[in-house]
Amino acid sequence: MTVFEAVANSTHRLRAAGIDSAARDARALVAYALGVGPDRIVLLGPDPIDTRAQDQLSGYVERRLQHEPVSKITGLRQFWGRDFHISKAVLDPRPETETVIVEALKYPAKTVLDLGTGCGVLAVTLMMEWPKAEALATDISPAALAVARENAARFDIGDRLSFAQSNWFEGVQGSFDLIVANPPYIAMDEMAGLDRDVRDYDPHIALSPGGDGLDPYRVIAACVRRHLSPDGRLIVEIGYQQAVEVMQLFQNAGLSALRCHADLAGRDRVISARIQ
Ligand SMILES: C[S@@+](CC[C@H](N)C(=O)[O-])C[C@H]1O[C@@H](n2cnc3c(N)ncnc32)[C@H](O)[C@@H]1O
Repeated sequence: MTVFEAVANSTHRLRAAGIDSAARDARALVAYALGVGPDRIVLLGPDPIDTRAQDQLSGYVERRLQHEPVSKITGLRQFWGRDFHISKAVLDPRPETETVIVEALKYPAKTVLDLGTGCGVLAVTLMMEWPKAEALATDISPAALAVARENAARFDIGDRLSFAQSNWFEGVQGSFDLIVANPPYIAMDEMAGLDRDVRDYDPHIALSPGGDGLDPYRVIAACVRRHLSPDGRLIVEIGYQQAVEVMQLFQNAGLSALRCHADLAGRDRVISARIQ
């Protein structure tokens, strides 16, 4: 079997199972089985694919047929142009979360707090973009923090980025110029309606805080004053239908300069605020 035939067969199997991204996924899985980047598939197309790679590919396709996302199979997800290691312990970072970075980069900060860091995309990206800044990244999940530490090492950030296991602000001391968070925000009654790729493969604790999905914003609204520098900025991701509620919560807490920012799909995605 050639590489092209392996891509065609895998595409056919995935498409027959109703997977919309069948062709792209097949290319990525064949490339992963061969240990090369997907951009090499065209060049390698006429070459034979060896038995070991064929066996591996067959396992990967089986996993994809169970709706496991390609990124969870390959253990890599691109964010802000960099490949982050991910695992079943962390949320698969979403492109819309880059909206947080777009807003943050407008206001260079020396100290950053990333609440609920997951695999570390926000903290690590900001440390890469601001080589003199320092950050604290927290998560309630020790397994997520282990993945974030791995990504910090992967990009050689060194001791500019530290980590703490913490329930939101509970283990946090001091003030920061920038606080970013992409908290779990899916309401409990929306969980059943999620795609299997998400519901079955992202950790529940990364998706939903229970109830109406707004509790993390209530905690942030109540505690942010104690941890944001006077001129600092809070930037949080929201569910695209939560802008009115989150703005109201932040306004009731006395936060100022409230702004809502859209993602590339034009949906409300990020709220920024200040404390004075
Ligand atoms: C939506 S994920 C975001 C992960 C990452 N920041 C990103 O954007 O890809 C939310 C993260 O918040 C963490 N989390 C959930 N409840 C928490 C809590 N009470 N305190 C701190 N972190 C929490 C989860 O473990 C998860 O890593």
